[in-house]
Amino acid sequence: MQLKQELDSAIARLGAEKVPSPRLNAELLLMFTLGCDRAYLYAHPERRLTEEEQSSYDAALAERVRGMPAQYITGHQEFWGMDLIVSPAVLIPRPETEHLIETVLELEGIPCGLPRSGAPASEGRGLNSVARIVDVGTGSGCIALALAKELPKAEIHATDISPAALEIARANAARYQLEDRIRFHQTDLLEGLPGEFDFVVSNPPYVGESEEDEVQLEVRKFEPRDAVFAGPKGTEVIARLIPQAYGALRPGGWLVFEIGATIAKEVSNLLKDGQNVEIKPDLQSLPRVAIGQRRAN
Ligand SMILES: C[S@@+](CC[C@H](N)C(=O)[O-])C[C@H]1O[C@@H](n2cnc3c(N)ncnc32)[C@H](O)[C@@H]1O
Repeated sequence: MQLKQELDSAIARLGAEKVPSPRLNAELLLMFTLGCDRAYLYAHPERRLTEEEQSSYDAALAERVRGMPAQYITGHQEFWGMDLIVSPAVLIPRPETEHLIETVLELEGIPCGLPRSGAPASEGRGLNSVARIVDVGTGSGCIALALAKELPKAEIHATDISPAALEIARANAARYQLEDRIRFHQTDLLEGLPGEFDFVVSNPPYVGESEEDEVQLEVRKFEPRDAVFAGPKGTEVIARLIPQAYGALRPGGWLVFEIGATIAKEVSNLLKDGQNVEIKPDLQSLPRVAIGQRRAN
């Protein structure tokens, strides 16, 4: 079949199977199969697929119809302008997680053009920041890599309990020549990490098992359960992280982490031993980033 017909029939098939954004998915998987960009697809509508290309495209479409996210099929997801490798061992990085990066940069005195939070931001050291930062539950490494990229003098650590996730994070660091900038640790939250940190940053598991029915089927079926669900309520990992983080931060250091809207109130309460506690909204105005500062001794 010619490329245009192939694309049209894939869009129809994905649409009939109720896959969201059928055109986008059909294009993405065809670009992946042919190793080309979108412009090529539309510049060569009469190009015929080889038998091998045809069967790879069919296999990719079948996986997508089965519900597998396109990112796991292609093995890639973009985050903070970087093309990251992903596999079913790691959560697919989400755009809203970029708010964590923006928040840390803002607190370090690097404006990101975002609405300012109420927390004081001027004490930061800008691009000369030599902050010690740890990303807890690094998954693909997206947060640690973005911060290493933006803060070239900072000391970055990243932890995860999953060895398979750390393997992907290390591969991503190597992909961006950041492997010497980030120290990876396989551990439970902050267990055994040396010294005091200026920032503890995290996108922890925060969905409650009681909310499981409201979670997209694709997420439940294909993303790592331990990356998504924290326990019955959703706050179980955060409730352990907060005291550990306040203990690991230097006085005045910041804990910055992602949350879901349903747990915002409880999280504010859990952060009360710190100061300048704030819950910042995302672009949909949903509570998304929780921050708290360790009090001076
Ligand atoms: C929501 S995912 C976030 C992944 C990545 N940071 C991101 O933003 O896309 C949570 C990550 O925390 C890890 N994790 C879960 N429990 C943990 C624990 N007790 N200690 C360390 N990491 C943990 C999971 O393996 C997973 O990689």
